[in-house]
Amino acid sequence: SSYTELYRPQYHFTPSINWMNDPNGLLYCKGIYHLFYQYNPGGTTWGAMSWGHATSRDLTHWEHHPIALEARGFPNNITEMFFSGSAVADVDNTSGFGHNGKTPLVAMYTSYYPIAQTLPSGKKVQKDQQAQSIAYSLDDGMTWITYDVANPVILDPPAPYSDQFLDFRDPNVFWHEPTKKWIAVLSLAKVHKLLIYASKDLKNWTLASEFGPVNAVGGVWECPNLFPLPVDGNKNNVKWVALLGLNPGGPPGTIGSGSQYIVGNFDGTTFTADSDSIYSGTTAPPSDSIIFADFEGTGTFTDLGWTPSGDLIGQSPVSGTLPGQQSVSGYLGKRLVNTFLDGDATTGTLTSRSFTISKRYINFLIGGGHDFNNTAVYLKIDGEIVRSATGTNSETLSWQSWDVSSFLNQTAVIQIIDTATSGWDHINVDEISFSDTMARSQVANWVDWGPDFYAAQVYNGLPIGERVAIGWMNNWQYGGLIPTSPWRSAMSIPRDLSLKTVGGKVTLVQSPRENWGSIVSRKCFDQSWSFVKEGTQSLGSVGMALKIDLSFSDLEPAASGSSQFGIAVRATPDSKQQTRVGYDFATKELFIDRTQSGDISFDGTFPDIYYAPLAADDKGQINLEIYVDWSSVEVFGGQGETTITTQIFPNDIASYAQIFSTGGSTQNVRVSINNISSAWD
Ligand code: FRU
Repeated sequence: SSYTELYRPQYHFTPSINWMNDPNGLLYCKGIYHLFYQYNPGGTTWGAMSWGHATSRDLTHWEHHPIALEARGFPNNITEMFFSGSAVADVDNTSGFGHNGKTPLVAMYTSYYPIAQTLPSGKKVQKDQQAQSIAYSLDDGMTWITYDVANPVILDPPAPYSDQFLDFRDPNVFWHEPTKKWIAVLSLAKVHKLLIYASKDLKNWTLASEFGPVNAVGGVWECPNLFPLPVDGNKNNVKWVALLGLNPGGPPGTIGSGSQYIVGNFDGTTFTADSDSIYSGTTAPPSDSIIFADFEGTGTFTDLGWTPSGDLIGQSPVSGTLPGQQSVSGYLGKRLVNTFLDGDATTGTLTSRSFTISKRYINFLIGGGHDFNNTAVYLKIDGEIVRSATGTNSETLSWQSWDVSSFLNQTAVIQIIDTATSGWDHINVDEISFSDTMARSQVANWVDWGPDFYAAQVYNGLPIGERVAIGWMNNWQYGGLIPTSPWRSAMSIPRDLSLKTVGGKVTLVQSPRENWGSIVSRKCFDQSWSFVKEGTQSLGSVGMALKIDLSFSDLEPAASGSSQFGIAVRATPDSKQQTRVGYDFATKELFIDRTQSGDISFDGTFPDIYYAPLAADDKGQINLEIYVDWSSVEVFGGQGETTITTQIFPNDIASYAQIFSTGGSTQNVRVSINNISSAWD
């Protein structure tokens, strides 16, 4: 491919063809950055998971290599897939894999077994089991040998989590110099725990400790990382960062996948979170805002003012009544909907209700499914799904919040859906409420506030104090539907991570790391204004791959200034398509609006506005760095303490830009735009 297809990223990594998800095995070794990644050699949607491979000398120009670990039995008889994991250079040959002075590279990954089997090692695995295996390379990562005599090296999750063997994955392995041990951090995805293992040789692992759940616990926890960074560059004040993915249950206002981090300390055994990195307190939003809560007894839906759907009556073992309080031992109290229907395999709306949106957030408790994902809640406006949530496990009901501020005063419908297609249908929803604050389980240190930064991994092998992360720039909500061909999914810009004290708190700060000098070309716009009047101003046709520096004053009091300022990029000449990146002075939030960004039709939840908190600097300035590519926009706010990453799919005539100031004029504006040229030439 010449990398010129519609939507083809010009300086973000993509495989030339086929499906990609998580970055894997990020390792810097002998001047080479390795990027392995979840790859389907057989198509453009998830499947036949293998490790693809690319290398770079500058994190910008990538060379593709043959598949490193191909799904065993591909294509017709797959017995093992290679799920996410990481890699290290075993320089002291602790593993004994090295020969003739060659340093072995060792990858640790999750083996997913689609069928029950007895492995060459003699170990038995169950259907759909996830276990941890290793492989090594003696040719600098080009070819890999799986350690079949003993794989998987971690077969089962430890008691008391032995029932979690279907959701035990994504080893993050690294060398811990103070204790001279290898550490692997794993995720028990459904119970929101990280397990920390230690080893002397990468082959024999012992459980050292566990961590979690804390902070955001929506959906599953996946793809953990644990790494040290100096605070404010001070080598004598090193903190550890746990960074992990949640799916669904990302940042407020997003749907689907997201990433959070927790700052703390790690002593080689235990990760202990700093108290100011953990959110506690009330889990529920203010109780006076509850709009519908516990269903009492066994009455009919009409008692609640709800309209029963035909489905429910048909499915219900007690015709015409809510089977809410059937006694199923172990389930928590009363629910608005708490059904347990016998294996009916029909999906459908259990109930729905219409109301006017009156506050910023809609919150609810959601569970759903004893071992099944049976519950979905939809918010619809004019028949379109604008928000959705799914429950994971009825024993761990969790709060979710939707930011619905963009729909204030509109009429909406909430639908509670039974999504079970087989077995028991167990649906749990309760305490649907409006509030001005969100439910605590979505309060977290978000790595990125947009919808398209997931499964991030940090590099091993970099100099001490340096950390580069790459994220999968997509989202499980619609990942398989994005309108690109013949590839699907891109990686984020590699990001330099550091810890800085921002607003009194140790904060993860990100800065885009590419060999900018080699790809940033012509300056195509550079202008300063002491005042930008209310309205829009065209900057002309500036291009489709851009680096934009934007700064302006955050005026106090807000009344004397504008209410929003920003830049619309990837606009068509008629402005019908555009992606707005801006700042809201009243709420002090950065935002990206992709509601008119081009092709938004492939998923009802895709068009939306994403908000993130951002304070002005000490001179009262807002500084944004905006990176635009043929199908993405990433914005780094302030020093990089706030980022928003979004995919967009605009037309290829969408090369125009304009600045906008709404509700008044904006002061001290500077806009500087450079073109970025292709990294694939
Ligand atoms: C995250 C993930 C991982 C898993 C991989 C499978 O996106 O679900 O937990 O290892 O994808 O492709």
